[in-house]
Amino acid sequence: GLKLVVIGAGSSYTPELMEGIIKRQNEFPIRELWLVDIEDGREKMAIIAGLTRRMLEKNGLDIPVYETLDRTEALLGADFVCSQFRAGCLDARISDERISLKYDMIGQETNGLGGFANACRTIPIALAIAKEMEQLCPDAWLLNFTNPSGMVTEAILKHSTVKTVGLCNVPVIMQKGIASALGVSDINEFIMQVAGLNHFIFARHIYHEGKDKLPQVIELISEGNDPLVPKNIPPFKWPDRLLANMGMIPCPYLRYYYMSDDMYRQELGEAQGEGTRGEIVKELERELFEIYRNPELAEKPKALEGRGGQYYSDAACELMSAIYNDKRIIMHVNTRNDGAIAGLPDDCAVEVSSMITRSGPIPLNVEPFPEDVLRLIQLMKSFEQLTIEAAISGNRYTAWRALVINPLVKSGQLLENALDEVIEYNKALMPAF
Ligand code: NAD
Ligand code: G6P
Ligand code: MN
Repeated sequence: GLKLVVIGAGSSYTPELMEGIIKRQNEFPIRELWLVDIEDGREKMAIIAGLTRRMLEKNGLDIPVYETLDRTEALLGADFVCSQFRAGCLDARISDERISLKYDMIGQETNGLGGFANACRTIPIALAIAKEMEQLCPDAWLLNFTNPSGMVTEAILKHSTVKTVGLCNVPVIMQKGIASALGVSDINEFIMQVAGLNHFIFARHIYHEGKDKLPQVIELISEGNDPLVPKNIPPFKWPDRLLANMGMIPCPYLRYYYMSDDMYRQELGEAQGEGTRGEIVKELERELFEIYRNPELAEKPKALEGRGGQYYSDAACELMSAIYNDKRIIMHVNTRNDGAIAGLPDDCAVEVSSMITRSGPIPLNVEPFPEDVLRLIQLMKSFEQLTIEAAISGNRYTAWRALVINPLVKSGQLLENALDEVIEYNKALMPAF
């Protein structure tokens, strides 16, 4: 059997992962399950461990569940490691959101100034984990969910020998939405090809019954009711004919770029009313853990559907099983480009439909992007690469170079002041800028 390690196990998403494991018990045999968190997450992890044990028992699975704050003990001899921690926890996310809004910018977990700050907190920890894995479990696979997932994956790909794949639930949500638009019940009945960067992908093709149904799905989405949007993004309507003219479906996160002002105003309104997304999530999380505590509960509760990351276990567990069983199925993952997207470096991370094998993902080549879209993807990749560099070096000029090209970030004095505040809040959480 396999040793599975979950880093950031106190996440309220963990019951999804457990549900995915239970569902695949006959194809993905687990010997022991190790939950890892930090002191701040100890209590949450204990509640998750209790619920996990009840879920396993209810399903007749005799798998020991260990809880630890000592990562190295958990990593020793691991086969699969799922990384899903939040560096600085929710308070840091809220700080990113509030500082951004204060300086007239969109405040978001993985985009703009928030995405930059998140990366600077997270990448040093992710690289430390990868270094430990090189020693303690060099053959293990590292599945990264930890946001910003694309940048974290690229940092590990470039600075470590560990085998890693980055994941996101947005492609899964898009698949589910497309299935409902096409009126099919099974997402495996059609093929969706996506390409781009994490939270910056485009659906390029939807093959069903021998035809490309992309235009048909675009028509349905353009009518208004977009079923492809996760809970954390307000369900806006794309401008008329935009998608038809593009001939692609931009993922919901692209609204931050193609409809920046609408998104900014919406966010500002919410922040002044019910609160920022991070603040709302804090409350949601409190409610979820109240539910998880219940000793009668032995399954994933419905309330988890209020989180943006729902269905992520489908991706995580399916990916682990696909690697382990050499399934050669198509999944949508963050991996080395290697020419899949023309116009981006071979060694950068891209989020693309890939064939999943025992040797890892083999990305599918994608039809060249129109020049305007390609330029935008290249710009975002430069932002990501400079951000990774800043997260490692702590060089303020590199940070400035990253931020000043990001379309969601203001320049000049607003940027200097915002960056000062970000650095001040994160003094203990980031390299010293
Ligand atoms: P959360 O705030 O509950 O954090 C999860 C756990 O990480 C917490 O229990 C916290 O104590 C712990 N943690 C913090 N620093 C740690 C460290 N250095 N080592 C080990 N554990 C640490 O977060 P969440 O909302 O459940 O999300 C968890 C992570 O997964 C975030 O990075 C989030 O952005 C990401 N996520 C990604 C996707 C995706 O599509 N890729 C989907 C959902 C969530
Ligand atoms: C989406 C994204 C995740 C993100 C999450 C936020 O599904 O793919 O990367 O972390 O939503 O959801 P939340 O409920 O935390 O706002
Ligand atoms: Mn994501």
